[in-house]
Amino acid sequence: MAKIGIMGHGTVGSGVAKILFDSAELMANRAGEPVEVAKILDLRDFDDLPYSDRFTKDVNDIIGDDSIDVVVECMGGIGAAYQFTKMALLAGKHCITSNKELIATHGKELLSIAAKKKVNYLYEASVGGGIPIVRPLRQCLAANHIVRIAGILNGTTNYILTRMKDGGVAFDMALKEAQELGYAELDPSADVLGHDAQRKICILSHAAFGAELDTSMISCSGIDTLTREDMVYAKEMGRIIKLIAMSQRTDEGYYALVAPMLVPLGSPISVVNDVFNGVMVRGDMVGDTMFYGRGAGMLPTASAVCGDIIDAIWHKNDVKAADKYSDEAPKALDPADAPTRLFVRIKGLEHSEEEAYVLEKMEDIRIVRLSRYPDEFGFITREAPLKVLNEEVDALKCRVEVLQRIRYESL
Ligand code: HSE
Repeated sequence: MAKIGIMGHGTVGSGVAKILFDSAELMANRAGEPVEVAKILDLRDFDDLPYSDRFTKDVNDIIGDDSIDVVVECMGGIGAAYQFTKMALLAGKHCITSNKELIATHGKELLSIAAKKKVNYLYEASVGGGIPIVRPLRQCLAANHIVRIAGILNGTTNYILTRMKDGGVAFDMALKEAQELGYAELDPSADVLGHDAQRKICILSHAAFGAELDTSMISCSGIDTLTREDMVYAKEMGRIIKLIAMSQRTDEGYYALVAPMLVPLGSPISVVNDVFNGVMVRGDMVGDTMFYGRGAGMLPTASAVCGDIIDAIWHKNDVKAADKYSDEAPKALDPADAPTRLFVRIKGLEHSEEEAYVLEKMEDIRIVRLSRYPDEFGFITREAPLKVLNEEVDALKCRVEVLQRIRYESL
């Protein structure tokens, strides 16, 4: 019998409890022994559940209980979740988390404690909700040098962008829907501003090629400045706007970023809609692979947690070499030095001074004009380092009004 302590009975924690109760027989068969929820930590009262008797408000009822083998942390945040996970690992318990903020912030320390205490610390659910991605990168694709990871890693923003594009729904309404569906973070600005995706690409870069768990060099911009006009231009250019997280390995190191991008409609990423996430991984042996599925929500995320529970039970006495990389961590490079193209919108009538000025100052651009927006135009730049393109566009501001700039990528 494996005994489980669950910390946090929110969206994900309640999903884990539900699977462990509703699918007890399947879990026992897969794990090779019964899997029992011993305790659930939450400050709130839950009186009407079939497992209401398991709740506690005292973390020591989990940490101090020697019969509990595996602790699942679904509290979120990096306050109590960090303290309690550290306590659980130091007490020799295997730990599992869906908390990407915790892994991206304190993962290095927590994984090293896990290694010292010879326990597993698994975090499949921290990226991509129910999609297997951490384990495939670390294990199934371990014979590859991973060259690039690129995709949609935030379900909330993908849901919002899909609703804005297809349903003509306003940003605030789409966000409210995502919150009601249990997709958004407690503070949805982490979704909207790209920080959630930033943490996830940080974790995937670590899983893929041993990059440090450190978000400080990962540039990040969100979807908060996108407008209806941007969506119309995208459509007219045969593209779609997606919030893309990308990590690219180079000979010098790697660079990672999160930004809205204009993606061609032919790209596999362009058809990843609603709450779905899609991640393309390119390895030097396997070529291109794609991982697709529900990136948020109670049961998809709990499914990933429960897979980790089974893995931890299988390896109770034989801890997985979870974080061993013999290579040195690659250097984190500045993503602003990496080449890209930009799509830029400028205020200005056709054949206006503004248009002439832009044509004079910007090298090798393609103008995009839509008849429905006669007092403005767009242009697509050549490929050059982002820093260079941004400087050129910033310099235009002394004579023209720059309405928008979005990366224009060929994913
Ligand atoms: N808020 C996250 C998302 C939840 O929308 O993707 C899953 O990590």
